[in-house]
Amino acid sequence: MNLKDLYINFFISKGHKQIPSAPVVPENDPSVLFNTAGMQPLIPYLMGEKHPYGTRLCDYQKCIRTVDLDTVGDTYHHTFFEMLGNWSLGDYFKEEAISWSFEFLTKVLNIPIERLGVTVFAGNDLIPFDEEAYSIWRRLGIPESRIAKTADDNFWIAGESGPCGPDTEMFYFRSDDEIPDTFDPEDERWVEIWNDVFMQYNKKSDGSIEELPHKNVDTGMGVERTTAILEGVNDNYASSIWTPIIEELENVSGKSYRGNEESMRIIADHIRTAVFISADYAMIKPSNTDQGYILRRLIRRAIRHAKKLNIPIESNWEERLALKIIDLYSQYYKELIDNKDVVLEVLATEKKKFNRTLEKGLREFEKIIGHLSDKTLDKDLAFKLYDTYGFPIELTVELAKEQGISVDTEGFKEKFKAHQELSRAGSAHKFKGGLAGDSEIETRYHTATHLLNAALKEVIGPSVHQLGSNITVERMRFDFPCDHKLTDEEKEKVETLVNNWIAAAYPVKKEEMSKEEAVASGAECMFLERYPDIVTVYSIGDVSKELCGGPHVKNTSELGHFKIIKEESSSAGVRRIKAVLE
Ligand code: ALA
Repeated sequence: MNLKDLYINFFISKGHKQIPSAPVVPENDPSVLFNTAGMQPLIPYLMGEKHPYGTRLCDYQKCIRTVDLDTVGDTYHHTFFEMLGNWSLGDYFKEEAISWSFEFLTKVLNIPIERLGVTVFAGNDLIPFDEEAYSIWRRLGIPESRIAKTADDNFWIAGESGPCGPDTEMFYFRSDDEIPDTFDPEDERWVEIWNDVFMQYNKKSDGSIEELPHKNVDTGMGVERTTAILEGVNDNYASSIWTPIIEELENVSGKSYRGNEESMRIIADHIRTAVFISADYAMIKPSNTDQGYILRRLIRRAIRHAKKLNIPIESNWEERLALKIIDLYSQYYKELIDNKDVVLEVLATEKKKFNRTLEKGLREFEKIIGHLSDKTLDKDLAFKLYDTYGFPIELTVELAKEQGISVDTEGFKEKFKAHQELSRAGSAHKFKGGLAGDSEIETRYHTATHLLNAALKEVIGPSVHQLGSNITVERMRFDFPCDHKLTDEEKEKVETLVNNWIAAAYPVKKEEMSKEEAVASGAECMFLERYPDIVTVYSIGDVSKELCGGPHVKNTSELGHFKIIKEESSSAGVRRIKAVLE
């Protein structure tokens, strides 16, 4: 049995319910581009909302962390990974969490206790030393010398604010050296495998800390790293998770992994992540902003390294890799089957686009560096590579670095900003991770989204449905299938309908029911597979009925005046509306 199944079975045997993995692109959470941890989709429940599955949950969650994108190529960085997690929502706390972690590691995974070291929270000005966690570990048989007390590394929070708390981390000694008596978390031979966070606080955006209504446990274990450890390999890419992908890469390139590790890791990692992003129901396409830009960078960097390996770029190498990846993961993630054609199309199209200029761009790059008077590539040349040849700046930096040349990235960014109304830099803060604000205005936009969906159905036709939605404190955005640009008359009709419904002061009703009941009740059930068996359905008068996680206002009269500010094409056959509540 593989690690994922062992983990889920173990926690089910401890009274947990398995919840489905959330999409990699979070819905209605503009603060992050991608899910970066298992707890991210659970934030409302960690903050006190009741979870339909109860108080003990477990899952494996697709995560994407892009801060490390350019360091991929070594033995252990990945942009996509799966995180195992178990949660207590006001149910059990430190005693059970630590004992079960210990039991899973030593009894199910059969890790010898001598190879384990743990850290506990040493305490700081605000929160005391975690004596309880310390004594639980001692009682379970971890010697004093293998428990390290640290402060900074033992407090977990996703980003700047939100649910957080002290944690205890478990490390494995991954080396043939003699195991030192004293565990030192700074010694690289000790590798962190699991983190139990005792989430009892909420850090507010002003920096102050308050107690949560109930105490939670949030844990996270990386599948890639732990699998490598269990299989006794020092290179994550040599574990059974990666070998089928690397083997396919050896087949398409006619080269062996040995001697080509860096490029092969980059290609394998980046294509895998690109597959998961483009298979997501959010329908992300390569672009120059937000998730689309990450997708573009991943594909283009993979192509550049494929070129380094002399893989004929026009051949179907990317398709073969993608099919291999889809094959390996489709039993766990249904979107890979549903959107297989979309994935292949995204990869092939982006490849074609980049391949048209790649060769010329690389020649231009060689020419440029041949003429440099010092070891710096200026902003105009970096911008030319971007603008004319489609080189993401990060790719130019990587190419330059290989030649010992630095790039004026600051200057590039300024030029880029001046050139582009929608600056990627504007969303740089999203890379750090963080929490969605459930502010009043965002709640109002949620409800307005349902009204807009209903109004479009009346004006355009019943085939309208939500393909994507994004809410910020400033506006709402809604994507829907439609084969034409909306006329002024259609836009006006939509606005009038929504404003009439607001004026009618319809109550917003929230009900919990099974998925079957939701479908039978006629509720709009988009992305049904993303939801647990028990779902929440929101009805607005008799205007709208949708399956949705909320939150929503109590009455439409709270919304204010609805106004469309933009209507544009999002992609072929998809229109996008941006609207505000005034
Ligand atoms: N949320 C915790 C982590 O990501 C478990 O490490």
